Amino acid sequence: MAATTPVALITGAAHRLGARTARALHQKGWNLLVHYRSREQQANALIEQMNRQRPDSACAIQADLSQLSEITRLASEATAHWDRLDALVNNASVFYPTPTGGATEDDWSTILDTNLRAPFFLLQACLPSLRKHRGSVVNLIDIYSEKPVADHPLYCASKAGLAALTRSWAKDLAPDVRVNGVSPGAILWPEGNGDMDTPQQQAILDKTPLARTGNPDDIAGAIVFLICDAPFITGQIVAVDGGRSLNM
Ligand SMILES: NC(=O)c1ccc[n+]([C@@H]2O[C@H](COP(=O)([O-])OP(=O)(O)OC[C@H]3O[C@@H](n4cnc5c(N)ncnc54)[C@H](OP(=O)(O)O)[C@@H]3O)[C@@H](O)[C@H]2O)c1
Repeated sequence: MAATTPVALITGAAHRLGARTARALHQKGWNLLVHYRSREQQANALIEQMNRQRPDSACAIQADLSQLSEITRLASEATAHWDRLDALVNNASVFYPTPTGGATEDDWSTILDTNLRAPFFLLQACLPSLRKHRGSVVNLIDIYSEKPVADHPLYCASKAGLAALTRSWAKDLAPDVRVNGVSPGAILWPEGNGDMDTPQQQAILDKTPLARTGNPDDIAGAIVFLICDAPFITGQIVAVDGGRSLNM
């Protein structure tokens, strides 16, 4: 018999926005499936903390979402762990510049497969369990899906595609499963390849009416609201951006 505690799977949840969202849902009494690709130590530290607060309430699952076979395995391990799935948060993503003229097929595959193909096939594989439990999905999009940032055409296309999937799924999966999106503005500056210099960051803040970066809790709060407190909301994409999209 399936457990009664609701269960959420969050992809790319070992750190940053995904980890904050995992903590927030856990505090609401949910059980958490923390997906990670490479950050095993951080994923294990996160679930150990949660399991100390509430025994057997968190589990980490590794998978490379650029591989379809890994996505299928992740879905079957996730849905089997507590024999239920009530929420899927498609959070894992890659972000780096691919100026037109220099982008490669590898760039196309890396960005489109992770940011767009993976959410589609993961949702498809999790659908029977989500339907059974009248679950919901939140996709992490980006305000750049509508107003593109320069030199990131593949990233912007991947997030625009995810916005389209959000609306298609909301229509197609109703009334069993609700599907919404959250579009962050500047919350945490990118790491690694996507690094921006300080003047670029300042230029973004200058165009943000609330004049600051967001806090990961702002994103986690919006996701928790859409999953837990919005039974009549589906097909919506909420910009959590301090008003930045008003000035783009
Ligand atoms: N941060 C912001 O201010 C901001 C702004 C706009 C939109 N967003 C969106 O919000 C979401 C979270 O943002 P974030 O900055 O917290 O994300 P992030 O740190 O850039 O990425 C989250 C995780 O994605 C995982 N990932 C990347 N490629 C993967 C693959 N092939 N297979 C499996 N996992 C993979 C990584 O897992 P491992 O580390 O375990 O390898 C990474 O930790 C993203 O969808 C992002 O596009 C964020």
